[in-house]
Amino acid sequence: MTPTLRIRDLDKRFGGGRTLFGFGKKKPSVHAVQSVSLDVDRGETLGIVGESGCGKSTLARMLVGLLPPTDGSIEIEGTDYADQAGKDPAAFGKLIQYVFQDPASSLNPRKTIRQILEAPLKLLHAMPADKCAARIDEILDAVNLHAEFLDRYPHEFSGGQAQRIAIARALAAAPASWCSTSRSRHSTYRCRRRC
Ligand SMILES: Nc1ncnc2c1ncn2[C@@H]1O[C@H](COP(=O)(O)OP(=O)(O)O)[C@@H](O)[C@H]1O
Ligand SMILES: [Mg+2]
Repeated sequence: MTPTLRIRDLDKRFGGGRTLFGFGKKKPSVHAVQSVSLDVDRGETLGIVGESGCGKSTLARMLVGLLPPTDGSIEIEGTDYADQAGKDPAAFGKLIQYVFQDPASSLNPRKTIRQILEAPLKLLHAMPADKCAARIDEILDAVNLHAEFLDRYPHEFSGGQAQRIAIARALAAAPASWCSTSRSRHSTYRCRRRC
């Protein structure tokens, strides 16, 4: 069976280019992610733990298409998307979603929870307004939030509630996988199958 997420020899280097017009010394380079290979199957959760600066966030950014890899492949449901990273975030949005480390700052403070949850339904899936309402009810239920929260703004919620809203937004995109970075005693990176 094809894994949902299959990564082979993924590499990311920052810097290392020449200074302006190619003169002078080479800029210093950082090898942030070095030859990472992993598979995540349907229904599987993978945690990546490591000391600060070992490349967890860089790996997560490459997986969700925010950063192009220097080398290697990222296959989601059997298709290699490594070349698309950094080019078409909307295409990645339907495949894999990111739940950010700080949920409160990743939610737009000017939008209500309803507007935040409607955005992926309308923009990624072109869902008509009448169907959005029913889908939002299902998603709220999945993350155990009440419908009366929909017309409130992100600053009105606790950290835990904001995290659930961020997860609800990721679910609204109906991705094949999702990943999150969290700062606990050890940072973790997780990737999970469709809920
Ligand atoms: N945009 C960038 N430019 C240059 N170096 C970077 C950049 N992003 C991350 N790095 C470097 O890559 C390494 C890995 O960083 P990061 O992925 O943030 O680690 P972690 O999330 O595990 O703490 C660090 O040495 C960091 O300084
Ligand atoms: Mg990090």
